[in-house]
Amino acid sequence: MNILILGSGGREHTFAWKISQSPLCSRIYIAPGNAGTMQHGINLPIGVTDFPAIKKAVIEKNIHLVVVGPEIPLVEGIYDYFKKEKSLRQIPVIGPSAKAAQLEGSKAFAKKFMASQDIPTAGYREFAQNELAEGMDYIATLTPPVVLKADGLAGGKGVLILDDIKEAQAEFKAMLEGKFGTASSKIVIEDFLDGIEFSVFVLTDGTNYKVLPIAKDYKRIGEGDTGLNTGGMGAVSPVPFVDATLFKKVEERIIQPTIAGIQAQQLEYKGFIFIGLIKVGDDPYVIEYNCRMGDPETEVVLPRLNNDLVELLLATARGTLDKTTIEIDQRSATTVMLVSGGYPEAYEKGKVITGIEQVRDSIVFHAGTTTNEQQVITNGGRVMAITSYGNDFKKAVALSKKNAKKISFDKKYYRTDIGFDL
Ligand code: AMP
Ligand code: GLY
Repeated sequence: MNILILGSGGREHTFAWKISQSPLCSRIYIAPGNAGTMQHGINLPIGVTDFPAIKKAVIEKNIHLVVVGPEIPLVEGIYDYFKKEKSLRQIPVIGPSAKAAQLEGSKAFAKKFMASQDIPTAGYREFAQNELAEGMDYIATLTPPVVLKADGLAGGKGVLILDDIKEAQAEFKAMLEGKFGTASSKIVIEDFLDGIEFSVFVLTDGTNYKVLPIAKDYKRIGEGDTGLNTGGMGAVSPVPFVDATLFKKVEERIIQPTIAGIQAQQLEYKGFIFIGLIKVGDDPYVIEYNCRMGDPETEVVLPRLNNDLVELLLATARGTLDKTTIEIDQRSATTVMLVSGGYPEAYEKGKVITGIEQVRDSIVFHAGTTTNEQQVITNGGRVMAITSYGNDFKKAVALSKKNAKKISFDKKYYRTDIGFDL
C-alpha cells in the first residue's frame, strides 16, 4: 500500500524510516518532508494544512493510509475533512478528530476532560478575555511560581512560569491582550508542580490502547536544563526512574481513565496520545496532552519498537489494536539534536551540512534540512537528530555525541548533557 506522511521534522523522518521497513508498504510520500525523508520516499511540495492539495495528492498517488505528524492539521480537522469527502472516506487518517484534538488544542478543554475522569493534574482556574480584573486579583493570592498557560496552540511557547507576582500579572495582562494572538484570549492559571518530567505514548483505536516505549525529552537550550525552551534538544528511552510501580500508577490513574473518557465523551480518536507527565513525590500528574507523537521523542520511541508499524497503524484504523502485541527492544535509545546557532531565537538557514556519511552505528534523522543541487543544507532551527542504541543511556548518548562531532555546519550547536539528571 501507499502511505502519506504529513510533516517535515525529525519525527516524520523517523516515521518514514520505520514505515519503509514494513513489507506492507509499497510507496511512501511525505508532504512536505525534508532532505532525510527523501531517502525513503517521495517528497511532495504540499503544506500540512492545505487540505484540498492533500486530497488531490491522495487521489492521484493512490494513497491508502495517511499518518499525521504535527498537531496543526489535526486541530484544524484533517480527520473530519477525510470523513466528509466522499472520495476520501475510505482512507484512514491516523490522528484524532478536531473535537478530540482539543485535548491539545485547548488547555481548558483538557483540564475539564481530566476533571471529568478524576485524572491527577495541577489545580487550575480559567480566565476569559473579559476577566482581567478577576485574574489579576487571583494571581495576587498565589505563592510563586505562577504558571500561566495560553489556552490555544502557541507553538510550544504558550506556557510561562513566573517567580514574581507583579511580573505574572503583567504577563497575564499581555497574554489576554493578544501576546499569543487568539491562543491567549483565554488563560489557564495552574498550580505549580515540582518534580521530574517524562512522557508516555499511547496508540489508541478509540476503544483499545497500546503503550509505546516511555521517553524523556530535554527542552531547554542550555546545559543543565537552562535557558530558553526549544522544541526539544534530545531524548532518552526508557526512563530509568519509571519503574513498574510508577508505570502501574500511570496506567491505572491516567491512561485507562483517558481512554474511558474518550469513549464516554464519544470523541473519535484513532491515533497517538502523547501524555506529558510529572512525578511529584511518588505519584504521576498530567502536565499536558498532545494529540500526536513528540519530536524528538519519536526519534527514540520508534527505534525501540520491534513491531511492524504499518500493522499497528492498520489495527488502529480498523479498531483491532486488542489483537496486537507490542514488542520492545530492551536496549536504550537516545537522541542528540544538532541545532542552528541562535535557535530558538533568530538563526540563519542555508548552511551546507557535511560529514553525514562519516557517521557510524547511529541513525541520522533529518529535521530542518533541505537540498540545494547536490548538497544537504540547513533549513530550520532543529537540523538533525542523532539516535544511538546502548545497553544503558550513557553508552547511547556517548555514541550520539561521538557522531555529532563528525557532522559539520556553520554555527552548529548541541547539548552534550542529555540524560544528565537521570
Ligand atoms: P506544556 O506546554 O503544558 O507542556 O508546558 C510546558 C512546560 O512547562 C512543561 O514541560 C513543564 O516543564 C512546565 N509546566 C507546565 N505546567 C506546569 C505546572 N503546572 N507545574 C510545573 N511546571 C509546569
Ligand atoms: N518534544 C515535545 C513535543 O513534541 O511537544
